[in-house]
Amino acid sequence: MDFRAHLPVQLEFGAGKIDQLGELAARYGKRVFLVTMTDMVELGFVERAFLSLNRAGLETVLYDSAQPEPKSDQIDSAAAVLRESKCDVVVGLGGGSAIDVAKAVAICAKHTGPVWDYVNLSNRPPQPVDASITLPIIAIPTTAGTGSETTPYSVVTNTETVQKGTIKEPAIFPRVAIVDPELSCRMPQKLTGATGIDAFAHSLESYLNVPNRSPLSDALAETAMSALIQHLPNAYADGNDLDARAGVAWAASVSGMVIANAGTTVTHAIAQPLGARLGTSHADSVALFTVPVLRHTLPADAERIARIGSLFPDFKGRGKSAEVAAELAIDAIEELLISVGITTRLSDLGASDSLVDELAEDVTTYMSRPLAQHPVLFSAEDIRSIVRSVM
Ligand SMILES: [Fe+2]
Repeated sequence: MDFRAHLPVQLEFGAGKIDQLGELAARYGKRVFLVTMTDMVELGFVERAFLSLNRAGLETVLYDSAQPEPKSDQIDSAAAVLRESKCDVVVGLGGGSAIDVAKAVAICAKHTGPVWDYVNLSNRPPQPVDASITLPIIAIPTTAGTGSETTPYSVVTNTETVQKGTIKEPAIFPRVAIVDPELSCRMPQKLTGATGIDAFAHSLESYLNVPNRSPLSDALAETAMSALIQHLPNAYADGNDLDARAGVAWAASVSGMVIANAGTTVTHAIAQPLGARLGTSHADSVALFTVPVLRHTLPADAERIARIGSLFPDFKGRGKSAEVAAELAIDAIEELLISVGITTRLSDLGASDSLVDELAEDVTTYMSRPLAQHPVLFSAEDIRSIVRSVM
C-alpha cells in the first residue's frame, strides 16, 4: 500500500446541530459572513443560524443572494460585499451552490483576481491561492448530495466563455461541516433523488479512478454507496423519514471525502459542460450520464464494477462471471436511479443536435484531465456516442 489521504474537516453530525453554529464559529473571529439563498430564509434556517450566532456574541452580515449553479460575475459581486464587511469567517448555509459560493468568496475577498482566475481548467492552470489569508469556512448543507461540506472544491460557471470549472484548493476545505439531517427533511422529492444520485456518482467514479483511488477511498466509497442503496429510496419515498435522511446525509458527506481524496472521472467531465451549455442542474446532469458511461467502461474493469453490484443486498450477480456480474451491477444501479425518479432525457431539456459536438469538444479540452484517470480512455467519438445515447 502506498497512498496519501487528507481529511481535514471537523464533522459535526446530528439532528439539531445547526444550533451549535455560534460556538463553533466563535473560534474563528467576531464577524460572520453568512452566505445563503432566500429559500433558506423562508424555511427558517437563517433565523436559527442568526439566533445561535447571536447567543455566542457574534455579529452577522447576511448575504442571501447566492444562486443555484453560481456564475463567476455573481461570485465577484459577493466577494466585494464580503471585502467591505470586514468579516473574519464565512458560513455557507444551503445546497452545494451556497456552500460553493461561500468557499469562492473566502478566497476572492482576500485575493486580487476575479474568481475565474482560481478555477482549475485542464488546459489552463489556476492562479495561486494563499491559504494563510483565505478566510475560514463553515459549511451547513441543507441538501444531501454535493458533499461540498467535506471537499476542497467550488464549482463556478462562466457565462462569457460558456464553461463550468472547479476551484480545487486545500485552503477552502471547510474548517467545520455541520451536517444536520433534519434540515434535509425539507428538500423536495425530485431534488432528494437527483442530489442523492450525485453523491452515489462521487463514490462510484472515485472507485473507478485508477491513479487516485486508495484503500481508504475505496473503503469510504463502498460505505457511502451501501448507505445510499439502503437509504436513498426511503428518503425519496418519505421525506420525513429521519433515519433515511440521516443515512443519505452521512453518505453524501462521506462521498465528499472520497472525491477529496480520489476524484470523479468521465461522468462528471461530461456533466459539468452540459450545465454550462444548457443550464441543467449539476445533479440532473450527472444522473443522465452515469449508466451509459458505466456500460462503456464495463469491458475495461468488469471485476470492479461487479464489486459495486455486490453492495446491493439482493444482487443477482453473485457466483456469476465478472462480465455477467458487472452487467447485472449496472442494471441494479439503473434500477436505483429509476426508483428515485431519474428518467430525464437530454431532449426533455431542450438539447439540440449541435450539443453532441459541443460537449465532445468541451470534455476533450478543458475537462480532459479526469478522462485519463478512468479505466478506459474515452475518445471524442466515445463522448459523442454517450451524449447521443441519452438524447
Ligand atoms: Fe457532483
